[in-house]
Parts: sequence; C-alpha cells; structure tokens
Amino acid sequence: MMNRQRYLWTAALVAGVVSVVSWAYPAHADSRMLSKAQMLPAYQQECASCHMAYSPEFLSKPAWNRIMQRLDKHYGTDASLDAATVKEISNWLAQHGGSYKRVTESSPEDRLSTTPWFVRKHREISPSVFQRASIKSAANCTACHMKAEQGNYDEDFVRIPR
Ligand code: HEC
Ligand code: HEC
Repeated sequence: MMNRQRYLWTAALVAGVVSVVSWAYPAHADSRMLSKAQMLPAYQQECASCHMAYSPEFLSKPAWNRIMQRLDKHYGTDASLDAATVKEISNWLAQHGGSYKRVTESSPEDRLSTTPWFVRKHREISPSVFQRASIKSAANCTACHMKAEQGNYDEDFVRIPR
C-alpha cells in the first residue's frame, strides 16, 4: 500500500507530466471547437447563411465586437440585423470569444484567416490553392475541413479539393 506522502508525490508527478504534454501539443487540445449545434440559435441562423458559423474561440472578443458594430459594412457586403439581435449575438460572442494569446495577436480586418495562428497552421498551403474555384478563399473552412461544422479540425478530416 502507498503511504500518503508517496501518493501525493505520484499525483504531483502525474499532474506535471500531463501539463507538459498539453503544453507541448496545444493544437491537438484545441482543434475541437464549438460545433454548430452548440451555438446560440440566433448566431446559427443569422451568421451562417453566407458562410459557416465560425467557432467564436477563433477570434478575440474585441475583434468580434468590432465585427458586430459594423455589420452594414461586412467584408464588402451588408449583413445588418435589428438592434435586439445584434445585442443578443454580441453578448454571446463576448462570452465565448477566444482569450488564448494566439487569438489576441493582431488579425488584420478582424479575420480568422489573417490571425498569426491561422497563417502558421496553413503556411504550407500556397495562396493559389486558396483561390481555386472549389475553395474560393481561406475563409471557406468547410472546403477543406470536412468536419468543421462539428468543430473538428483534426488533420484526419482535412482534404484539399482540386
Ligand atoms: C449577407 C451575407 C453574410 C452574412 C449574413 C454574414 N456574413 Fe460574415 N462574411 C460575409 C462575406 C462575403 C465574408 C468574406 C468572405 C471571404 O473573404 O471569403 C464574410 C466574412 C466574415 C468573417 C471573416 C472570415 C475570415 O476569416 O476571413 C467573419 C469573422 C464573419 N464573416 C462573421 C460574421 C458574423 C458574426 C455574422 C452574423 C452577425 C456574419 N458574418 C454574417 C458575408 C456574410
Ligand atoms: C485549402 C484548404 C483549407 C482551408 C480553406 C482551411 N484550412 Fe485549416 N488546415 C488545412 C490544412 C491542410 C491543415 C494542416 C493539417 C494538419 O497537418 O494538421 C489545416 C490546419 C488547421 C488547423 C490546425 C489543426 C490541428 O490539429 O493542428 C486549424 C485549427 C484550422 N486549420 C482551422 C481552419 C479554419 C478555422 C479555417 C477557415 C477560417 C480553415 N482552417 C481553412 C487546410 C485548410
């Protein structure tokens, strides 16, 4: 039988190993994002008609806030909503927006696809691939991530269309 001291020492060692492992493999730990089914109904309804419902963890809270404040000038289109819906979605994004260091780094135009983590994760893909007719843009996550709608970005479910 283990004495109490030895038990505590073992527990501390296990906790240390676990935290080192999850520090070394952060991508794996956070490659599962909110699935569409877990999102606020108003967000699913209003923010997933022109593109997928992006997982809120992928952008910082201030970035989401800026996006919600200028929906009339939304990446070249008008995505305006009534004030009550804007407020409901904004509040939800303010709770679920990412707070990891990597998403709080700058993201030109407040895009997921311009955040430094995105650029790092996709650095092996040449810009011409993103422009293929079957993909259209880096913002079109579902073109390559077959389970993006389920919040799953694991490499087992990536396929780059021709
Ligand atoms: C009328 C269509 C439309 C609606 C509705 C819409 N969007 Fe968009 N959204 C776009 C277009 C077009 C782009 C640019 C896509 C591109 O560059 O390929 C875009 C891009 C984005 C991006 C940046 C994607 C990237 O990483 O480049 C975010 C974030 C975003 N939308 C969030 C939202 C949110 C939040 C809502 C709901 C409040 C919303 N959108 C509703 C059309 C729309
Ligand atoms: C042209 C195809 C393509 C598009 C479009 C694309 N990705 Fe990727 N993505 C990849 C590839 C390829 C990888 C690297 C796979 C690997 O080795 O893990 C990757 C990796 C990732 C990873 C890291 C996964 C991990 O476990 O390390 C995340 C997260 C991710 N993409 C999110 C997104 C999001 C969010 C979008 C849309 C804003 C997007 N991707 C658009 C192809 C794409």
